[in-house]
Amino acid sequence: MEESNRMKRIPPYLFTIVDRLKKKVQENGQTVIDLSMGNPDLPTPSHILEEMGAAIQDPVNHRYSKRDDGCEVELRKAICYWYKKKFDVDLDFETEVVPLIGSKEGIAHMSTAFLNPDDVALVPSPAYPVHFNGVTMAGGILHDLPLLKENDFLPDVSKIPEDVLRSSKFMFLSYPHNPTTAIAEYSFYENMVKWVRGKNIILASDAAYSDIVFDGHTATSILQVPRAKDVAIEFHTLSKSYNMAGWRIGFAVGNPEVLASLEKAKSYTDFGIFRPIQRAGIKALTSDQKCVTDLVATYKKRVDFFVKGLQSIGWFVDFPKATFYIWAELPSQYKALSSLDFASLMLQKTGVAVAPGTGFGKYGEGYVRIALMETIPRLGEALERIKDFLAEGI
Ligand SMILES: Cc1ncc(COP(=O)(O)O)c(C=O)c1O
Repeated sequence: MEESNRMKRIPPYLFTIVDRLKKKVQENGQTVIDLSMGNPDLPTPSHILEEMGAAIQDPVNHRYSKRDDGCEVELRKAICYWYKKKFDVDLDFETEVVPLIGSKEGIAHMSTAFLNPDDVALVPSPAYPVHFNGVTMAGGILHDLPLLKENDFLPDVSKIPEDVLRSSKFMFLSYPHNPTTAIAEYSFYENMVKWVRGKNIILASDAAYSDIVFDGHTATSILQVPRAKDVAIEFHTLSKSYNMAGWRIGFAVGNPEVLASLEKAKSYTDFGIFRPIQRAGIKALTSDQKCVTDLVATYKKRVDFFVKGLQSIGWFVDFPKATFYIWAELPSQYKALSSLDFASLMLQKTGVAVAPGTGFGKYGEGYVRIALMETIPRLGEALERIKDFLAEGI
């Protein structure tokens, strides 16, 4: 049995590698503190659970979901309501919204919908892995846009060669950014919308963390730029804002033609979101957003605790402006290692799992990503273990 060449070109999923290592460590009797994956550990708010509980009892909700049935129409309208409230952007619920089985699904389908074998996708590096692996799986050509610290982890589009631009179908942007935690100002999106005009390139913004921002920063939607809908779509998810990662619900909004192609690709592979989950999603988007404010406050406490803790033991990392990650350069005594070797060694010696930077693309080398998906006492335990490990060096 031989995999397709497209599949052979992608390595095993980063978290599959980390999971294998974690299993080995557990078999050796060590408890693992897992800070590798951005998998929210807190419960889905109770008002959302109650809505799901009621909806699941109704047999009408057990059938396939259809675009024009009452439930999906209500979900589309709820998405428009949320978008208007959060970003003051008007959307047409019929043509400018596509519900997704999680935004990862939609991002992968973006490549299926738009890439021919000679087509290029412009993908920042480091990035959330489906941004680049989705392109490879669809058989397209990847062009990396390095995100460097000296550029505040923003792409420098002036470095893209002309012939690459001519073959490019779309470009991913994603702020607040996983894994670097960078944010982008309104002026960045304004410049990108201006730059892309006349180029036949779609801007696909992934705004999974738009709710999880700290210290008075706000996340911008690319659609806030006037006439951005001519050239852009944006992906959102309920996974992070409402602790609904396992539920699988997200959405894409923006340019109607692009969304129609995305919907066409989806229509041959899925039947939409389980209706009780749509009902729960409607509840999440249209209710008071205090649960989101509380969640951000919890993450902020974790971030402050862990960054200060790392700094106090000599690992000098920056405070994130957004997300629940820390993007940490390898500590000076371990700089000679690759990020994968460092993460593996730290896991073996301490039982603390973090994600190696190269899992997010080649420009992630030299970093690890720490996901603060544990309580403060467990994070304190992780710090204790890391302290001894840092003191040892190599
Ligand atoms: C940047 C980014 N986009 C998308 C996703 C996927 O979210 P979803 O659960 O909606 O598929 C993630 C998940 O970690 C992410 O970090």
